[in-house]
Amino acid sequence: MNLQLLKDTAKLLFADNKGLLAMDESNGTCNKRFEKLGIPQTVEARRAYRELIVTTPGLGESIGGAILYDETIRQQKNDGTPLVKVLIEAGITPGIKVDTGAKELAGHPGEKVTEGLDGLRDRLAEYFQMGARFAKWRAVIAIGRGLPSWGCIEANAHALARYAALCQEEGLVPVVEPEVVMDGEHTLEECCEVTGEMLRTAFSELFAQRVVLEGMVLKPNMVLPGMSSSSQPTLDEVADATVNCFLRAVPAAVPAIAFLSGGQPAELASARLNAMNVRFKSRLPWALAFSFARAIQQPALEIWKGQDDNVSAAQQALYHRALCNRAARRGEYDAAMEKR
Ligand code: 13P
Repeated sequence: MNLQLLKDTAKLLFADNKGLLAMDESNGTCNKRFEKLGIPQTVEARRAYRELIVTTPGLGESIGGAILYDETIRQQKNDGTPLVKVLIEAGITPGIKVDTGAKELAGHPGEKVTEGLDGLRDRLAEYFQMGARFAKWRAVIAIGRGLPSWGCIEANAHALARYAALCQEEGLVPVVEPEVVMDGEHTLEECCEVTGEMLRTAFSELFAQRVVLEGMVLKPNMVLPGMSSSSQPTLDEVADATVNCFLRAVPAAVPAIAFLSGGQPAELASARLNAMNVRFKSRLPWALAFSFARAIQQPALEIWKGQDDNVSAAQQALYHRALCNRAARRGEYDAAMEKR
């Protein structure tokens, strides 16, 4: 294992307060988001959208790495330039989603386990050849009556650790994503408890599989009440609950924690990340960063709507969200930034 390469990549992804842009929606997820906005669900529409993203002027000022999907890493701009080349020239390190999706977990109604370990070593080697230097695997944990089960937590933690070890062997930094999803009526405290248990189990498995913590990145959920809960915690309450949960569960050797946005409104995701950095940044062993998909892309997608004439305005919206999140890493985001 080339630990120096892994450490260098992890450092580069988050240098200068940058973060990650997740643009790795599977075709199914991307099509669902297109459908809502009346955008055709075709290979060409998905290609055009990804070209819009990677050609956004100035994106590399705030984005250190972009997570691609298998279809996207093989695609080109209209003029034939590979999208990976466009990213590298913009100073953005290409990454790749390598799980093959969360499927029903046998014997565990309402729960899922993420698949994709079979043949993963060969796929990782191919992606490395194509220019990827980091990878992502997402596990999905639901909170509900009697959920999550121990079987679900353990199966997902084990798969995350097996994936992470294979990534490190192939020279790719594993972005380990155990997502406790926001669906449901659960409280902030319940989310904190489940997130903590998932993280402790994941790090125990990562240790067992000999994953080197200095060469990985954690991509967790923020600690939040469920989407159907009526509770509306303040920014400071979310910041305290999230950081305290991680201080108890995430080893100090991990270089960076890059949050997913999970369906929060884009501005709120920036404000919450900002609050964490304002209150805790100088006292934490890891960087607190972002790896958002919807909280960076959604406003731009809603402006684009599949129309060429809207590309420039959509790119400005994308650039703006990325910039807001970079400011949030410094603890310098302000709602006034949104009045443009
Ligand atoms: P969201 O930020 O939209 O939650 O997506 C992050 C991600 O990459 C999910 O795997």
